[in-house]
Amino acid sequence: MAKRRDPLKPEEKRKLSKENLSKLAGIFHYILPYRWLFIAGITSLALSSLCLLAFPYVAARLIDAATGAGEWYLRGVNQIALLLLGILLIQAVFSFLRVYFFAQVSERSMADLRRSLYGRFVSLPMSFYDSQRTGELLSRITSDVSQLQDTFTVTLAEFVRQVLTLTVGTTIIFYFTPKLALFMLATFPVIVVLGMLFGNFIRRLSKQIQDELARANIVVEETLQSISMVKAFTSERYETQRYSTALNRVVATALKAASYRGAFISFIISILFGGMVAVVWYGALLVQGGEMQVGDLLAFIMYMMFIGGSIAGLGDLYGQLQKAIGASERVLQIISLPGEMTLEEPLQRLPLNGSIEYRNIGFAYPTRPEVEVLQNLKLSICSGEKVALVGHSGAGKSTIVQLLLRFYEPEQGQILVDGQNINTYDLSAYRANLGIVPQEVILFGGSIRENIAYGRPQATETEIREAARKANALQFIENFPEGFDTLVGERGVKLSGGQRQRIAIARAILKDPKILILDEATSSLDAESEHLVQMALDELMHGRTTIIIAHRLATIRKADRIYVISGGQIAESGTHEELLHQPEGTYANLVRLQLQEEG
Ligand SMILES: Nc1ncnc2c1ncn2[C@@H]1O[C@H](COP(=O)(O)OP(=O)(O)O)[C@@H](O)[C@H]1O
Ligand SMILES: [Mg+2]
Repeated sequence: MAKRRDPLKPEEKRKLSKENLSKLAGIFHYILPYRWLFIAGITSLALSSLCLLAFPYVAARLIDAATGAGEWYLRGVNQIALLLLGILLIQAVFSFLRVYFFAQVSERSMADLRRSLYGRFVSLPMSFYDSQRTGELLSRITSDVSQLQDTFTVTLAEFVRQVLTLTVGTTIIFYFTPKLALFMLATFPVIVVLGMLFGNFIRRLSKQIQDELARANIVVEETLQSISMVKAFTSERYETQRYSTALNRVVATALKAASYRGAFISFIISILFGGMVAVVWYGALLVQGGEMQVGDLLAFIMYMMFIGGSIAGLGDLYGQLQKAIGASERVLQIISLPGEMTLEEPLQRLPLNGSIEYRNIGFAYPTRPEVEVLQNLKLSICSGEKVALVGHSGAGKSTIVQLLLRFYEPEQGQILVDGQNINTYDLSAYRANLGIVPQEVILFGGSIRENIAYGRPQATETEIREAARKANALQFIENFPEGFDTLVGERGVKLSGGQRQRIAIARAILKDPKILILDEATSSLDAESEHLVQMALDELMHGRTTIIIAHRLATIRKADRIYVISGGQIAESGTHEELLHQPEGTYANLVRLQLQEEG
């Protein structure tokens, strides 16, 4: 199976440089419209954190009141307990508001970001899609945006809270219990540095686990996507073995990491509590010597836990922030790409007559610049004319129509429609004149009605019915119990090739394009459906400039003119009869071959 880039790879992390942080600022652009909600959120957050920070101080006074030590304006255990309750209540209100405001900001702004990304996706040119995997693009709009959303709610809020706790908490303990605070300061940095070093090592290991897991997931993805292949080749056992081996590697790596992690955790717990015991021991000495109140010691211990927690939390946030920068970089990169059109203006159709001229076209696909697919190709089609393109597979027939659709730009020469270079027309207004019935019709998930109306969403019920009738599709649609409401697409009924083809034709009839492209529209059909589809196509072609790409003689024969494509150029052209009379010609040869086949 083809080797592909792994979509499940844990997203890369970035250094927290100034330049990288400014990338995150690009995302702030999407927060800006909601800045007041954002500020309200930050304020609620700060207030709820401050309430929590006041808690130990007041709790200490409770102990003091109980032991009869200390002087405070609130007397009595009950009064102070009530104050504590009050603080908790206020804190609860602000916590609620914080979550609420941040949810407003993040949900709305990230929906905006997703809209923006999607708008960019659909307006990017075809050449962009030649070099991208759908899975990757999908993860831009799903996991990358989710990552950013987390960052702008949880991470940012946590960051503000931890920093507040750290600074305010440290200030409080230095103010009320300076001696003990200094003692603590002597032990803390050692723990923090050791923890960070070890933590980094553990993180690298867990990245290895994720990489292995991603490799195992690729096996699942590949086999599920081509499950019919797996079954047809009876490779169920082989694939199961492959997956099992991959999983074994995951387990081995994970177990190795687990032993390190276990060591890390027990180390951190011992050293952390060791440090705490030391501080409490020193505090107890101070209380014994009468230098400190019991309440203050209690408050100190609580603040110490707060501070310790926020230092640990900040370490986690650092990793989160790194990931978010990677995500914003990838998202912004796509948003900054130039689209081929804008979505702002309403769609209008250019009134065209539909004469086409290819003038000395030279073309190579951007992804394969060294292969000249078309060379100095000349071709002209009058308005309303039906021409057929024939040639061996890979000759460049589809490429010719892709250029007409302006999926790509020719490198040399120009294409004129109604005597004017197509590049000069507004892209959407121009493209609205073209209709295509491809070989492989893709139906969208939805009803048959919606799929036909895709050609013209504002079409009425009668128009849709009429289009289905002209496309020879009405009968089979009405044979379904739900008629036009029958669901098709991935989750709906599976239509046969010929049925899908006729839905595509109905779609094209509704769109009523001036220029019609049939790219091997009947090639994959059996004789009976081909007949039905061919009749529908004849109806569709009526009064339109039509380019037919086909193998079957029956389809080609009726064309006003036939062009034989070979070597990126027009090798022969003329009517069926004219070309038959060039016995050495490619076309005559082709016809002979087909007649032989048919017996
Ligand atoms: N999107 C693409 N990117 C790169 N090469 C392409 C692309 N599409 C087609 N080609 C190549 O261009 C050549 C002509 O293809 P195509 O026009 O599809 O042939 P035909 O329709 O006549 O069978 C082939 O060699 C094909 O491999
Ligand atoms: Mg083709």
